[in-house]
Order: sequence, then C-alpha cells, then structure tokens
Amino acid sequence: MAGFASFSCVLLISSVLLASYACASEVELDYASIPIETGLSWDFHDSSCPKLESIIRKELKKIFKKDIGQAAGLLRVHFHDCFVQGCDSSVLLDGSASRPSEQDAPPNVFLRAKAFEIIDDLRELVHKKCGRVVSCSDITALAARDSVFLSGGPDYEVPLGRRDGLSFATQEATLQNLPSPQNNTAILIDALALKNLDATDLVALSGGHTIGLAHCSAFIERLYPTQDPTMDKSFAADLKKDVCPTTDSNNTTVEDIRTPDKFDNKYYVNLVNRQGLFTSDQDLYTDSRTKDIVTSFAVNEHLFFEQFAKSMIKMGQLTVLTGNAGEIRANCSVRNADNVKLIKTVVEEEEAAEL
Ligand code: HEM
Ligand SMILES: *[C@@H]1O[C@H](CO)[C@@H](O)[C@H](O)[C@H]1NC(C)=O
Ligand SMILES: *[C@@H]1O[C@H](CO)[C@@H](O)[C@H](O)[C@H]1NC(C)=O
Ligand SMILES: *[C@@H]1O[C@H](CO)[C@@H](O)[C@H](O)[C@H]1NC(C)=O
Ligand SMILES: *[C@@H]1O[C@H](CO)[C@@H](O)[C@H](O)[C@H]1NC(C)=O
Repeated sequence: MAGFASFSCVLLISSVLLASYACASEVELDYASIPIETGLSWDFHDSSCPKLESIIRKELKKIFKKDIGQAAGLLRVHFHDCFVQGCDSSVLLDGSASRPSEQDAPPNVFLRAKAFEIIDDLRELVHKKCGRVVSCSDITALAARDSVFLSGGPDYEVPLGRRDGLSFATQEATLQNLPSPQNNTAILIDALALKNLDATDLVALSGGHTIGLAHCSAFIERLYPTQDPTMDKSFAADLKKDVCPTTDSNNTTVEDIRTPDKFDNKYYVNLVNRQGLFTSDQDLYTDSRTKDIVTSFAVNEHLFFEQFAKSMIKMGQLTVLTGNAGEIRANCSVRNADNVKLIKTVVEEEEAAEL
C-alpha cells in the first residue's frame, strides 16, 4: 500500500512538473492590445487553411528531431527577410549570374541553403492541402515561431496575411539594412530605430543568438591582432586555440556556450560573464542604455520570453505586403512571372477553358 501511495505521489509530482513546464513556454500576451498592420489578422487563414499551423509544426518537429540546427537557420532567415524590404520573402528569391539576389550579398552568404529548402517543402505541403492561398512570407514567419518554440522557447501567435514580394533588393540595400556583428550598440540602436524597434527590442531580438552557429569571420577582430578587453580571457583563449587558430579560419562555433541548442535566457548569462561572441552581442552589456535590460533577462527567463515574443511579432510586420499587393508564390524561390512550371499550367488551364 505504502509503495503504491508513493508511486502515485511521484506520478502526481511529475505530472505537476510537466504542467508547469508547459505553462512556462506559453507566454500570456494580451493579443487584442498588440498593434497589427492593416491587412494582417490573427485568424487570417482560419477558414482558408485551418490546418496551416499544425502542418508546419508537425513537419518541423520531424525535421528538428534529426537536426535541431535547422531551427537556427530558419529563425535567421525570417530576421534577414524582414530587415530587407520587409517580410516579403525577397530573401528567398534565387538570383542569377547576371542578377545577384539578396542571398548573394555578404550578410546572407551563411544563411543555410537547407532553410530555403525546408520553407519550400512546407509551402508544398500547405498548398497541397489548401491550394495556393498561403504566402511564403507567412510560412517563413510561422517556421521561425516554431523554431523558437520547438527549441524550448516561448509559443506565441503570429498575425498572418502577408503576401510575397515581386522583386529582391539590391546588394547595396541588403548590405545597408542588415546590421554587422562588428557594430556596437550605439550603431544598432540607430539602425533599429529606422525600423521602429527600440533598445528593448534590440536586446530581446539579439537573444535569437541563444541557438545556432557563427563563423570565425563574425568575431575574429575580437581575437586578433589584439584581444578585445571586454571578452573573458579564457573564453578568448579557447576560441583562439580550438576554433579560430588563424585569422582566415572558416570554422564555426556555437553562439551560446552554455546551452547551444536550447532556446533559453543563457545568452544573457553569457553576456554578463563576458562570453558573448560578437561585438554586437557583448556591447549590449557595456552600453548603459542596454546593460540593465540584459541583466533583467539574465535573471528572469519569463521576462525575456514575453519580450522576445512581443518583439518578434513587431519585427514580423515590417513593411508587409497585404491585400492585392504582391502575390502568393507557387514556388518560394521564384516569382510567379518567372515560374516556368506555373506559366505552363496557367496556359494549359486557359487553353482548356477555350475548348
Ligand atoms: C542585432 C543585430 C544582429 C547581428 C549583427 C547578427 C549577426 C549574426 C551573425 C554574424 C551570425 C553568424 C552567421 C555566420 O557566421 O554563420 C548570426 C547568426 C544567427 N543569428 Fe543573428 N544577428 C543579429 C540579430 C539577430 C536576430 C534579430 C535574430 C533572430 C531573432 C538572429 C538570429 C540568428 C540565428 C538563429 C543565428 C544562427 C544561424 C545558424 O546557425 O544558421 N540574429 N547573426
Ligand atoms: C557596421 O559595421 C560595418 C563592418 O565593420 C561597417 O562597415 C559599418 O560602417 C558599420 N556601421 C556603421 C553605421 O558605422
Ligand atoms: C578548425 O578547428 C580545428 C580545431 O577544432 C583546427 O584544428 C583547425 O585548424 C581549424 N581550421 C581552420 C581552417 O582554422
Ligand atoms: C566555409 O563554410 C561554409 C559552410 O559553413 C561553406 O559553405 C563554404 O564553402 C566554406 N568556405 C571555404 C572557403 O571553405
Ligand atoms: C522552385 O524553383 C527552383 C528554381 O527555379 C527550382 O530549382 C525548384 O525545383 C522549384 N521547386 C519546385 C517544387 O518546383
């Protein structure tokens, strides 16, 4: 009897723990009070594609089980899409030898090719189920959200109804709109202000670096020729010894040394311990405008999760196309006008209609 009682007690405790864990990832936001761009809505696809969100989450769960690194790749694509010409999937468009695309611009060269593949595979699954009613831009925003959630981060709603852009930005515009890891907080605050994002958004969104990888080129200036004094000495020594033994090393390292694959607040704990990887990361703990925000996230993960969700919802609405603007691409890598397969189908449909 005693054995049975203690067994059910353990069960009870473990189910309580499970319940509180589930609560922790679900941030409670007052969605009605969050500003939404005209043309977007929380329930945009509820009748046109009711299974949209479950299709994406189920597929990504499968993919991340094999390789959780893909979550970081997908999260970064959404950020790079939104910062250049708005969240219009312009970063997904392929260029050509004579017309380089956003993907060919220096800040985008390390975007993962696999992330682009995953987004188009998701599009194919969604369009098979619902028809061509969901944009690549909405799919990218949902994939970023699920990458956060399935890595241990907060779950949050995404306003939907974005449409896909008809062109990609120039190399110059791409370079100009994406911040560099060598930029300090002062530069980043100004750059984000142009997009109506404030210092709190900057600190929260930088928390995306709690997952994923970075190449030596993104932080090499902090190691050679002289060591950045704001970097922890043994952290720097390990990077020099194990990761970037030379200034031209193409190696990668994890962005969060504490919990590299888990979406949590350890990125901020790293900063407090001077173990941030980029100048753009570590300077957030040097600049007086952002230092206290870093500390507040380092000591309170719930606060970070809530702010991250709010800032992502904000970032995810940058210069969106809605209504009749843009289009719903039939292939995320090419605009419909250049889509050989689609043009052929439309012509066949028109010919059939004429008969
Ligand atoms: C604030 C300015 C930011 C700068 C300067 C910056 C810069 C960078 C750089 C240089 C890398 C490494 C790329 C490489 O070497 O392979 C990187 C990776 C990454 N960034 Fe950022 N980033 C910023 C903001 C963000 C934001 C807002 C997010 C998302 C919310 C984000 C998410 C990521 C992720 C997930 C990775 C890892 C990608 C992977 O493993 O493929 N970053 N970032
Ligand atoms: C940000 O850093 C890049 C690379 O070091 C540099 O070229 C650029 O001028 C910096 N941005 C500003 C506004 O200073
Ligand atoms: C990459 O890192 C390894 C150690 O992990 C090191 O032996 C190798 O030299 C590095 N490669 C380059 C090109 O720096
Ligand atoms: C550097 O690494 C990336 C992948 O992380 C790879 O695509 C690229 O070809 C490498 N470059 C060199 C010069 O080895
Ligand atoms: C989408 O377009 C790209 C570039 O033209 C092509 O390589 C790819 O096969 C297309 N995907 C599908 C599913 O048709």
